[in-house]
Amino acid sequence: MDIRGKLVEEAQDMLEHLATARIRQAPSVLTMPADIYTDPALFQQERMKLFRRVPLMLAASCELPASGDYKAMTVAGVPVLLVRGKEGTLRAFLNSCRHRGVPLTKDSCGHATRFTCPYHAWTYGLDGTLRGVAARQEYGDIAFADNGLLAFPAEERAGLVWVILDTQAAADFDVFLGEFGSLLTGFDLGSWHYFDRRVLHGANWKLAFDAHLDFYHLPVLHRNTFGPTIGNLAQYYYYGPHQRLGLVSKAEHKLEQDDIAGLAGMPSETWPLKTLLFGEWIVFPNVSINCFYKGGRGIIISQIFPGERVGESITVQTFLHEKPPEGAQRAEATAMAQFLTHVVGEEDLPLSMDQQRSFESGLMPYVQFGRNEGGLQHFHYWLDRFVSAPAGISTAVLLAD
Ligand code: FES
Ligand SMILES: [Fe+2]
Repeated sequence: MDIRGKLVEEAQDMLEHLATARIRQAPSVLTMPADIYTDPALFQQERMKLFRRVPLMLAASCELPASGDYKAMTVAGVPVLLVRGKEGTLRAFLNSCRHRGVPLTKDSCGHATRFTCPYHAWTYGLDGTLRGVAARQEYGDIAFADNGLLAFPAEERAGLVWVILDTQAAADFDVFLGEFGSLLTGFDLGSWHYFDRRVLHGANWKLAFDAHLDFYHLPVLHRNTFGPTIGNLAQYYYYGPHQRLGLVSKAEHKLEQDDIAGLAGMPSETWPLKTLLFGEWIVFPNVSINCFYKGGRGIIISQIFPGERVGESITVQTFLHEKPPEGAQRAEATAMAQFLTHVVGEEDLPLSMDQQRSFESGLMPYVQFGRNEGGLQHFHYWLDRFVSAPAGISTAVLLAD
């Protein structure tokens, strides 16, 4: 696809709406039962029928740049091990020894030449093959070829690592990422650099994620931090279940030197790609990517994962920079990471826990999403579409109109 052409089209649309301080509204206000945030049965369905069905963005490629680099994490109850193999291929495995299921490494990042199980020392290569069984003579017969780590479909695309948490699923990433995946390649994240990571805890994962999908709350909840620089209007652009949030508020202060508003008056052929990409990118079902220019050009990737119970979630903030920040830029990049951790950890997530308590009273019948919160309506529509479909229905069928 013509990535630049598409981005120019969106930037022109944002500039038009900036001029009028209006947005395209959703057709109507949407209400949803408040128990979508508290129902344990629905929570279990989400883990099984959404998080184990669609491709999930689990890492940036630059978190695992070298052969032997690994990242272990638990996603919706599934222990996952991402490993870059000898020839550079990124693979994803169930982090579970084939002998009796012990994780080969605890949730962490690191570097290894092989993985040795901490229970009885079976060893596995970076490609997941079983390489050694301790006391093999005494153990008995074992077919090594049948006892490699169980692999998930995985692929690197747009400098990001995508995994389907279903060992039986077809490795079909195209249909899910579509045009949105192509636009993300504009960042060229494969050549960026990992800077920092923060882990935060919050209420139900949808409450934590909802806060990434509206700008309506920014000048209110975030009035003492970044709210006044952005304003409360978001223009939403939809790509299947994914979406992009464009900034179209006349903010009190200009946000950045390189945001979309700065393009006004320049011929579109001269608009820099990095400015065209500026804004917020939402990868369904649980990732938000936001751009900034502190400490050089950077992004924050926020992954919101369901926790162990319906009222718990984990937000992982990963900071990447186009160039490794050095000297004064390093201090500025660190301050930016701290700032964004403060905003989410001290402003958004405590509020999500207050909402959770309110819903758990059982007395709040429904929640509402306004015509200015179309992205939230879009997210909840797609979520419902995946969760209410029988498990056997493929992502391709669910994405079709
Ligand atoms: S469980 Fe891994 S070697 Fe026994
Ligand atoms: Fe917020």
